[in-house]
Amino acid sequence: MQALRSITVIAIAIPLALAAGASSADPRSDYLLHCAGCHQPNGLGLPPEVPSLVGPLGAIASSSEGRDYLARVPGASQAPLTDDELAAVLNWILTEFNGDTLPEDFRPLRGKEIGKSRSNVLSDPVRLRNELWPDLDDAT
Ligand code: HEC
Repeated sequence: MQALRSITVIAIAIPLALAAGASSADPRSDYLLHCAGCHQPNGLGLPPEVPSLVGPLGAIASSSEGRDYLARVPGASQAPLTDDELAAVLNWILTEFNGDTLPEDFRPLRGKEIGKSRSNVLSDPVRLRNELWPDLDDAT
């Protein structure tokens, strides 16, 4: 009886958690839930409005300004994800979509550094991107 009650509680709790927009533990699912609406499930976005996340981010992630930038763009910074979850989603995007450009010595982003960066959300991400990486493919 106890077991049955627990199962019932879980069966009710999971759909409620999903309905409330809670994130899952899996970065791919979090990407699909919180990023893919704009950036598309395959990461290619809808240029020029929404940039592709496929390719250029490896070069960006290779500097400390770039690591900071990735967590400060509004779509990432303001997502309803914890710092650890956002770090996991960004690491997933980097390895899944930017494996060819990611430096070999890349250290995965950590929740703590993401927390510091994301509190400083960018008001003009495109301008900063063009200043820091003028030669990289356009963000938009
Ligand atoms: C409402 C649409 C939207 C959502 C949702 C969204 N983004 Fe974005 N994203 C954009 C737009 C538009 C830009 C271009 C910069 C800007 O204007 O914010 C961008 C830029 C970026 C960039 C910089 C790309 C580059 O080449 O410079 C990253 C990284 C990024 N988003 C990650 C994410 C992540 C991670 C999520 C989910 C947690 C997410 N975005 C959710 C619209 C969105």
